Amino acid sequence: MSDNRPSWTSRLTFILAAVGSAVGLGNIWRFPYIMGQNGGAIFLLVYLTLILTICFIPMMAELYMGKFIKKDCVSAYESINPKFKLLGYLNPITGVLISSFYFIVGGWIINYVILGLKNTQITDFAAYFGTFTQTSVPTCIFTLLFLFMCVFFTARGVKKGIEFANNILMPLFAVILVGLIIFSLTLPNAHLGLEYMFKPDFSKINAHMLLAALGQALFTLSIGMGALLTYGSYIKNDKNITKSAYTIIFSDTLFALLAGIMIFPAIFSFGLEPSSGAGLVFVTLPYIFSQIPHGNIVSVAFFVLLFAAAITSGISIIEVPIASMVERFKITRTKACSILFCIIAAIAIPTTLSFGILDGFKILGKNLFDFLDFATSNLLMPLNALFLCIIAGWFLKIRGHLFLQNKFFAKLFDIGLKYIVPIILISLLYIGLR
Ligand code: TRP
Repeated sequence: MSDNRPSWTSRLTFILAAVGSAVGLGNIWRFPYIMGQNGGAIFLLVYLTLILTICFIPMMAELYMGKFIKKDCVSAYESINPKFKLLGYLNPITGVLISSFYFIVGGWIINYVILGLKNTQITDFAAYFGTFTQTSVPTCIFTLLFLFMCVFFTARGVKKGIEFANNILMPLFAVILVGLIIFSLTLPNAHLGLEYMFKPDFSKINAHMLLAALGQALFTLSIGMGALLTYGSYIKNDKNITKSAYTIIFSDTLFALLAGIMIFPAIFSFGLEPSSGAGLVFVTLPYIFSQIPHGNIVSVAFFVLLFAAAITSGISIIEVPIASMVERFKITRTKACSILFCIIAAIAIPTTLSFGILDGFKILGKNLFDFLDFATSNLLMPLNALFLCIIAGWFLKIRGHLFLQNKFFAKLFDIGLKYIVPIILISLLYIGLR
């Protein structure tokens, strides 16, 4: 079976795919809205600290474990100890749950592309977004369309599609972002947005914010769901996965910061509320576009590129359950994709409707969409990352000297993997969920 496993054509393909997985809606949609709900600059500070210190460790552990064992998530865990199989299953399950809300946002993007193409004139974008997300038929159709596209690319094998998306579309996306930043910074009161983003108010530190920052850090780097493990298992000959990890972290953080600098000045300039939640970007950005000459063209370009970024991430999310289904149940990729399509659709449709007719259905006071977003990022992903560190550090005995030349850093990695990161993850889970 392992002879038939797919593999990347080159080191570059792998890096591009991994960066494509990392850079997505997490950077442009989720980062600003979670930051807005958690006190702005102080959140950014904690988030960056986590990214620059502890995230590297589970990331390397995942990549290396994949590269070393060369199996899908569940089989990889099982091969270390049959008892870990159930923990392994938690990864594809988390993937299915993440896709069930991620793809809804992908559907919103499709709607905004169409809006730009039609050049629809809207004055109150907040009201528009609220009304749109309450509809049943269009939102469900767009969600399913986005899901279908991700499944379609994944079914065909992703090499060509991902390569194109990342080689050409991502740099283009960065260019558009920089253009929009320049515009955003020239808006009246732009400085308020920058202050909100960069002037931390230490009185706003609290346990929920710490956990939210951890959740966002893991989410944006695609850690804690087996995506990096699965992508790592397709590596044939990359001797330097450390450098690959730096590249992923650097590009991902860059995109998140660019998104923040584009969004927050505009939020303050238009008098919007940074803490308004999941619709934040879908209300702010159209405002920006409506102020720019030929804004509808810029809007179409922006949302098409965001769409590309979302697809490359979406593919990596479903690749995890697909790989597990193919390898464990010995079914074809196409069959696995069809089954997964049905499973995700069955969860995603009620989730899509949770803004409209299913609005009254609440779990822990949250609608289904917010609940899935919260439960995956703030509970399942930290848990998966915790299990991963423990298994990699204590059972598989992955050690830093395997990929870090500097002896001191290698030692630090070992201690981090075995003790520090698990303790931090447990503490943040404990204080954040209390
Ligand atoms: N990191 C992606 C983003 O920022 C989302 C994503 C892709 C993801 N693959 C993942 C999140 C795996 C968690 C696990 O949009």
